[in-house]
Amino acid sequence: MAMGNQEYVQRDLSVVWHPCTQMKDHQWLPTIPIRRGDGVWLEDFVGKRYLDAINPWWVDLFGHRNPHINAALPEQLGTLEQVKLAGFTHQAVIELSEQLMRMTPAGPSFCFYADNGSSAIEIALRMSFHYWLTQGRPEKTRFITLQNSYHGENLAALAVGNLKLYKSTYGPLLTDTIEAPSPDCYYRAPGEYCAEHPNVADVRQTGMITAIELAKHRDTREPLPGQERRGLRVYQHGLRNGALLRPLGNVVYFIPPYVITEQQIQTMTRVGWEGILCAVQD
Ligand SMILES: Cc1ncc(COP(=O)(O)O)c(C=O)c1O
Repeated sequence: MAMGNQEYVQRDLSVVWHPCTQMKDHQWLPTIPIRRGDGVWLEDFVGKRYLDAINPWWVDLFGHRNPHINAALPEQLGTLEQVKLAGFTHQAVIELSEQLMRMTPAGPSFCFYADNGSSAIEIALRMSFHYWLTQGRPEKTRFITLQNSYHGENLAALAVGNLKLYKSTYGPLLTDTIEAPSPDCYYRAPGEYCAEHPNVADVRQTGMITAIELAKHRDTREPLPGQERRGLRVYQHGLRNGALLRPLGNVVYFIPPYVITEQQIQTMTRVGWEGILCAVQD
């Protein structure tokens, strides 16, 4: 670990618990202190850059320090930083809502705001329950959850999510749900890029998001044992080669900011592919 980064790594570990992280991993896999961001790049305290291929878990669609957003923020802050929406309104919320309405199906609908995805899920559950309550059906309290779905981390979102890894610990706190099968993408036509590799069972793509599913063999689709942590090897390969990839288990995915260039996409996929080859070689 380079000296300029070391100090931050040590200070961090003595005061911060990181989300979705097994903290004991950080005894041998240091956190990466980031000093600044720029477009698709993240840069540490000694100037090492990482191409951000995972969009810090979906929060930075337009790249780091996007000039358009950064110019708009101080303008808004200089005018009105916040006012409660109960009983008040303001220009920004009206304009945003009008724009969102243009994107949603026709018919009577309204915008209701939450400050993160998990809260939005909880609000949707409450609204749905409340609707039936007003229809004289208070017994309608159960929700259908799709297998393998993920909706966030608060208790409501965990309850309607379906990933045992995240929810089993909190089972006693979660409401009961009805489980339904979700569409199985495994049986779609294979993707193009690295589908020929024996350990690549599936390649899925929607818009700018691509996921590559690693398995023991593409024909049997038997999962790679979780404890081998092959995805983590892809992550480590990415770090060594200046790309931030963060596989979910053995699913390697790419969700780069929209500002990425074609050449940067080439770099990202090359590093990702080399990482997959390293991760499955033994
Ligand atoms: C499909 C889906 N729903 C909800 C959430 C929760 O969003 P947030 O992290 O803003 O609470 C996520 C987060 O990754 C998500 O992927």
